[in-house]
Amino acid sequence: MLGQDVPLAIESQATNIAILGAGAVGQLICHQLSSAGLAVGLIARDSSVSNLEATDWQDLVFSPLSPSDAVTDSVSYRVPLLSADKAHLQQVQLLIVCVKAYQVIDAIGPLLNKLSPQCHILLLHNGMGPHLALAPMLNGRGLSLGTTSQGILRQSCWQVKQTGQGLTQLGHFTGPALPQTLRDNLLYAIPNSEWVEAIIPCLWQKLAVNAAINPLTALHQCPNGALAQAEFSDTIASILDELVDVAAHDGIELDRHFLEERVYRVIELTAANFSSMHQDVANYRLTEIDQINGYICDRANAHSLSAATNAKMVSAIKQLSAITLPR
Ligand SMILES: NC(=O)c1ccc[n+]([C@@H]2O[C@H](COP(=O)([O-])OP(=O)(O)OC[C@H]3O[C@@H](n4cnc5c(N)ncnc54)[C@H](OP(=O)(O)O)[C@@H]3O)[C@@H](O)[C@H]2O)c1
Repeated sequence: MLGQDVPLAIESQATNIAILGAGAVGQLICHQLSSAGLAVGLIARDSSVSNLEATDWQDLVFSPLSPSDAVTDSVSYRVPLLSADKAHLQQVQLLIVCVKAYQVIDAIGPLLNKLSPQCHILLLHNGMGPHLALAPMLNGRGLSLGTTSQGILRQSCWQVKQTGQGLTQLGHFTGPALPQTLRDNLLYAIPNSEWVEAIIPCLWQKLAVNAAINPLTALHQCPNGALAQAEFSDTIASILDELVDVAAHDGIELDRHFLEERVYRVIELTAANFSSMHQDVANYRLTEIDQINGYICDRANAHSLSAATNAKMVSAIKQLSAITLPR
């Protein structure tokens, strides 16, 4: 099902959707849900230690994708900042986790015993792996997973600018299903979004694009378009061969030819862009390499397979990060 044309009645104005992680994607989704009239709040980094009242309100600015770049295009809005205390989190029916893949478990772990047993969790990050670590911790709660190709840039703490449109795919992973009303509201609020019956193959497909493009652009300090050069084709082919083989052993059949086409289409369409891993390395930040090529290596190990090219990407990025990350 792709999107919804008709606004749905919003049943309650009590904040029943919380977004964990008030970064670029968190603020984008927050804006989209808030504009659709949904009762959404943000859980920011310092919610557990700050002296927030039960509800503080935060002013945010969202700049849509616009050719004119006019300041007047920006939209100001305000949403509740939720404190991470039990009384406050009990009303949350859906927690959308928008932190980096390597932050998921540390971010959600301390909240789990404060959320209601019915609260559904949706992970929305690049890379794979946290879902496997989180599933045994859920205590009967439902878990959905998603991936988005929307682009968003954080301009200051509470200001983001949309840099690209793209498909958002959501789907069920384990436990009770996301209630239909919440699912319909999400699809209505997030442009170009769809609910897929099998989300894991979609995540592998997105992983293929990230595994092929991210480490190479970071290592060679180049924009995505440079990867169209013939010198990279063997490495990209090998990354994809290993990924398809490992996924097959995980029970996921991927079309190798389709994946390669998709990778080169993204390289062409985003030729001038710098990948998130390139930017993370350039800005001395941790990368998501462990959840991208590292996930392929982890699953390869689980099946006693070799994933030598992906392992090479992981160690090369870690070496680069060891040089660039502040100690
Ligand atoms: N940006 C994009 O265009 C884009 C597009 C598609 C997918 N993605 C993916 O979406 C995910 C999120 O990316 P992003 O760009 O939104 O990253 P981001 O801007 O770094 O946002 C993550 C936010 O989560 C916060 N956070 C981390 N740990 C937390 C905790 N324990 N409690 C509360 N908040 C916590 C971070 O705070 P600190 O800054 O203090 O750590 C940060 O504000 C990544 O997997 C990324 O690859 C991004």
